[in-house]
Amino acid sequence: MGIPNATLVIHELRALVTPGGAGPLRGRELADLAVISPASLAIRDGAVVSVGRPEDVRREVRRESELMDGRGLIALPGFVDCHTHAAFLGDRVEEFDLRSRGASYEELHAAGGGIASTVRATRAGSEEELARAVERHLRWMLGHGTTTAEVKSGYGLDRDTELRSLRAAVAAGERCPVDVVPTYLGAHSVPPEFGSAEEYVEFAIREVIPEAARIARQADVFMERGAFEAPEARRYLKACRDAGLDLRLHGDQFTERGAVPLAIELGARSVDHLEATGEEGVRALASSDVAAVLLPASALFLDRPFPPGRALVDAGAIVALATDFNPGSSFCESLPLVMSLACTRMGLSPAEALAACTANAAHVLGLDGRVGRLLPGYRADLLLLSAPDWRYVAYHLGGEHLEMVIKAGEAVWPSPMYQPAV
Ligand code: NIG
Ligand code: FE
Repeated sequence: MGIPNATLVIHELRALVTPGGAGPLRGRELADLAVISPASLAIRDGAVVSVGRPEDVRREVRRESELMDGRGLIALPGFVDCHTHAAFLGDRVEEFDLRSRGASYEELHAAGGGIASTVRATRAGSEEELARAVERHLRWMLGHGTTTAEVKSGYGLDRDTELRSLRAAVAAGERCPVDVVPTYLGAHSVPPEFGSAEEYVEFAIREVIPEAARIARQADVFMERGAFEAPEARRYLKACRDAGLDLRLHGDQFTERGAVPLAIELGARSVDHLEATGEEGVRALASSDVAAVLLPASALFLDRPFPPGRALVDAGAIVALATDFNPGSSFCESLPLVMSLACTRMGLSPAEALAACTANAAHVLGLDGRVGRLLPGYRADLLLLSAPDWRYVAYHLGGEHLEMVIKAGEAVWPSPMYQPAV
């Protein structure tokens, strides 16, 4: 039984590489990629319809409207960045300069800089300015191969700016070829107009969550000394869950203060950061369905210890990787760079790093079966690399091997008119 026709066939690729299986990958499964070489791929109506050796795809697909020569190119699934703070205005370049001369991130935060300074800049802008900023950030990501990105609010911390940030994230996703999953990070920091975290959480529950839950798909909290402790985080997350949002937590970034047990108690999708997580936390995550989202660019940028990536994979946790793109702790939108750090600083193999920022990242965003793999039925979001070996994507630190990004079957980067050199 063949497939009568396809919109596009990419013929005779040097290789096609994709995580296999379905749903989240744990332990040894994480390294279990399908590497087909040579390979062809057929797309119809924005979705993958056939993948395999060129002769098999040829036999299955009788006719196509467009044939692309894939010789010399390697296809990978489009990257999924499951943790970004792309909805902000202004920058923190002055703070970066101070940090380069010894000031610490936590000191700057305590002195009213850090997140609070980005909150001031973001509150001062219009919704259109924010949408344009998010779009610019998404286009930077696209240039590094990201085709789906989570975008958190969290630099408004008042009703209007939080809702504006979420709407701007949605609008930016509609204006450019990166799909956006909006996340309400209402509990990012306690804004200056509130006396305590408890008071602020009560305000968010009463005034913001009902409306935010109509726009966002997920909710997040920053559990840390000087931000939110377990009791307020629990109250906020339960209200978000009741409003229909999936739960995420920023936890164990600087100190362990109960984020892992709280994530498990509430059935969160993930707990993210984990630079300070000890053996007990690793064991607890491994025996749960809560994903561990590791953000090594943030550890690098703040000169912090790296999370226990190898131990988490070996113990059987669901491990995903993301950039944590934001103006303060990780001004980095490159998942290839994150993969390099995962390999050089956390002991993951290139195969594990790839699955962690495709299939497992898609799982964190609730997109299982839709993106993150190049298998029939998945959306045709893919990258064409020009490299001798697919592992160059992690091996070549800061390297540039991306030739083309295809989104739902359409060439979208560098430009729709672009023809790859073969
Ligand atoms: O994930 N840790 C909390 N939030 C962000 C940083 C936000 C900022 O510094 O602006 C993070 O690292
Ligand atoms: Fe973050």
